[in-house]
Parts: sequence; structure tokens; C-alpha cells
Amino acid sequence: MITVNIKRYDPAKDLHYTESYEIEETERMKVLDALALINRKYNANIAYRFSCRAGQCGSCAIKVNGKAKLACKAEIEDNDIIEPLDLPVIKDLIVDRSELNSKIKDLDMYMTSEDCDSPRNKPEIIKPGQYEMCDQLRGCIDCFSCISMCPVIKKTNEYVGPYFMRGLSNIEFDPREDESLSEKSVENGIYYCTSCGECTKTCPKEIDIYGKAIEKLRAKIFSEKEGPLEPHKLIRQSVLETGRSVQPKEDSEYPEGFVKKYNEDKTSDKKNKIAFFTGCMIDNRLPWIGEYLVKVLKKLGYEVDIPESQVCCGSPLFRTGQIDIIPDLVKKNYETFKDYDIILTVCAGCGATLKNNYPEYGANLNVMDISEFLDGKLDPEEMNEVNLKVTYHDPCHLLRSQGISEQPRNILKNIKGVEFVEMEKPDQCCGAGGGVKSGKPEIAEALADDKVDMIDKLDVDYVVTICPFCEFNINDSLKKKNSKTSVINIMELLNKAYE
Ligand code: SF4
Ligand code: SF4
Ligand code: FES
Repeated sequence: MITVNIKRYDPAKDLHYTESYEIEETERMKVLDALALINRKYNANIAYRFSCRAGQCGSCAIKVNGKAKLACKAEIEDNDIIEPLDLPVIKDLIVDRSELNSKIKDLDMYMTSEDCDSPRNKPEIIKPGQYEMCDQLRGCIDCFSCISMCPVIKKTNEYVGPYFMRGLSNIEFDPREDESLSEKSVENGIYYCTSCGECTKTCPKEIDIYGKAIEKLRAKIFSEKEGPLEPHKLIRQSVLETGRSVQPKEDSEYPEGFVKKYNEDKTSDKKNKIAFFTGCMIDNRLPWIGEYLVKVLKKLGYEVDIPESQVCCGSPLFRTGQIDIIPDLVKKNYETFKDYDIILTVCAGCGATLKNNYPEYGANLNVMDISEFLDGKLDPEEMNEVNLKVTYHDPCHLLRSQGISEQPRNILKNIKGVEFVEMEKPDQCCGAGGGVKSGKPEIAEALADDKVDMIDKLDVDYVVTICPFCEFNINDSLKKKNSKTSVINIMELLNKAYE
């Protein structure tokens, strides 16, 4: 027998309640079949939608253990919690889609052309290959799972959300459309997206909504005169002038950055097989993390090179659509790192960019996040006991962009004297990414506040992460709320164990 927990809603009594049902265990039973079985066995009268039973109509979308899925595709497992999407509920698992359907109408989500001579009215425009951009965006089955999972639309009415951005992008990049949708995308909040990747991960049709719709639309806006936001322009200017997206603070002990100082201080010119790609934040804002990484690796018997010719990976420019200077950055970094066996990163955004975006420019490098590299190499017997209680925040660009979840947790569980506890939703976006911290700070703050509420329930000394952007954003909120917890980079924690 397996237990299925269903969050139900009785509209007559306006009552939300959870009921648990036991059903016979059957291999590979779909959630939809489990619901039918429960209704038959218990006469439970649970209300739910379905039609095609084949992943085609999108009507059966629900949440399983907090993640939106199609009930006809997801397999039921013992103790699963089934609930409706995060939309107004009509009854049990049935949600009200009328507001979203009205928005489709309000947004005029169809191609428009008044002009008979416009390209869209010429049949010869439809040629193979011309639909490459929007081909990747087609196939949406209107399940609204992405809308349910987007953390940003829960915080603002200014953003229409991933489903609509996918739709706008699909029209924008259709060669038959002859009007620009850039202005409409900006008006409907395209710069609110944190690039958390939750929509892409969720979509049952595997549409890369943020990568292939939102970022491409942002690039289109950048190529026209409307965008991007002013703070994003400053980042590009900084990269153009210095090769770095951020500069050292005036009182920094590293006035020219960590990389420069490391190379000035080093005593050997020996060439190593492993290189460290610091990223702008470690180089200019968190240089001590670079020092800890070098120290810990040395303790473990590894030497790294930190080449001075490295520049910004381009992550903030990719995410905000400012891609005109990307080829130059890719070229410089590729020439710098191409001969190394392994390139280490300690920034989720840099790692995701080097792994996922660089190959599109023909630059394939063997990049590893520091947690991937260190997992399995640590011996608690060689460490000092640190006696700290910690939790872990999954950076979106480490978890969803690089698939790294277990490795940092394995490391934490192997640090002598560390008590590791999970927070309620460690994978929920903190709001720092996608240019939102600089461009829409109120959203970054609202999402970080949610994160801090989860952290504060745990009574931990530190929340560990491997992303400088998450670190600054969560720390701002922890300080604002007078929390006793601070953020710590995994290398700083490891340094305590190896000091
Ligand atoms: S990437 Fe995240 S914030 Fe952006 S639309 Fe998708 S779910 Fe929403
Ligand atoms: S984009 Fe994907 S997740 Fe969103 S509504 Fe369409 S099919 Fe569903
Ligand atoms: S019933 Fe049609 S997608 Fe599940």
C-alpha cells in the first residue's frame, strides 16, 4: 500500500483541507490513475481535470510535492502530496484559468498586419530554417505550470510571467510578424525575470522559456533603442572599460583585484593543469574567497593557476540581453583557458555561463564548480572540528543551470563538527539573478525576505552558498531582519575546517 495526500478545497464551505488515502502499490502508476482509483475506492469525489491523458492538452496540470507536473505523465509515489496549481482554486484540484485566458486576449497574442504587402502575407516567406528561433518555443500546451512555479509573479503585478513571455517571443521571432514586440515585452515586465530557470525546468514540453524566449527577447530589446535598464547599461560599460562587471571598493586591500595580487605575490612560475576562473565578484568584491580556495586546495595537494588575462565571463550581459560584446569576452577567456585540463569556478553564474553559453560560441572548456571538484576528496579526519549548525541555499544557476545539488551537500556533511539541516525550500530563488538585484531591487528584496523567513526557522549559524550574488542578496535581508544567521561561502567554511 502507498499513501497519497491530497490538498482539497470545498467551495460550499470555503474550506481547505488535506485528506490521505491508501491505495494498492502498482508499478509506474500515473497520478491521474491514482486519483481515479481513490475516487472509486473511497467514493471520494475528488474534482480534477483531464482530457487527452497523453500530455497533449495541458488540462491535468497539478502540483506534486510542490512542483507543477502533468497528472497524466507524473508517476505516483508513496507519501506524495498532490495539490492544485498556484492559481485561484474552484474545487479540489481544479483551478480557475479565466484570468489567464483574459490576459491572452488583452495582450493580443497573435500576429498582426494591416499591410497586404507585408512579408507575412507573402507565401514565399515560409521556408525551412526561417523558424529556427520560434520553433523552439512552439509546442506549448497551455498547462500554466510555468505560471504556477514562477516566483516573481507572486511578488508583483508588473510581470505577466513566463507563459506570456514565451508567447510574445514566439510571435516576435516569427518571420511573418512585421511589428516589433519589444515595447510590449518591456511594458509587461520582461526585466522582472530573475533567470531562475524554474519555468524551463517545469515545462512538460521542455521549452527553454528563460533561455530561448526571455533572454532572446531581451537581446532584441537591446538591439533596438528601448532597452536595457540603466543599471544594466552601467554593468556593460564597466566590462567594456575594465574587463570586469564590478570594481574593487575604495578601501579594498586588493585595489587591483585578487587575480593581480595573487600573481604579484606568487613565488613559483610552475605551470599547473588546473586553473581558477575567479569571476568579477571574487576578483573585486570577495577576494578572500579566492584566497581560501587556493589555501584549501593546497592543503588537499592541488596547485592552481589564476591567469591574469581572464575577463568577465559575460553572465550579467547574457542575462540582460547585452550580447554585442560577448564574442570578444568569449575569445579572451577561451584563449586564456583552452590549454588547462580543468577550470574551476566558485560562482554559480560564471560556471553556468562557461558551461552552457560558451559552447554556442564554439568555446568548449572543461569547467567544474568547486563543489563538483571537491566532492569525494575530503577526509573529516584531517579537519579541525568547527562546531557549527548550517543550512544550504541552492543557487539557481548551480542547481537548475548546472544540475548541482548533491555535491555541496556531501561536502557539508563531511565537514567535521558541522550539523547540516535543510530549509523548507532550499531551491527557491533568492531573487538576485537576471539583473533583478540591480534593475528591480524591490523584487530581489521581497524574494530574499522569503528565504530569510525559512532560514530563521532553523536557528542556524550560517546559510552556505556558492554564489556571490545570492550571498550579497540574502545577507542584505538577514541584516535588515536582524537575523542571528549570516551567509558563508562554502570555501570560507572549508577554510575554517582546514585552518
Ligand atoms: S526564469 Fe524564473 S523568474 Fe524568470 S520567468 Fe522563469 S520562473 Fe519566472
Ligand atoms: S510554456 Fe510549458 S509550462 Fe508553460 S504553459 Fe506552455 S507547456 Fe505549460
Ligand atoms: S490529460 Fe491532457 S495533458 Fe494530461
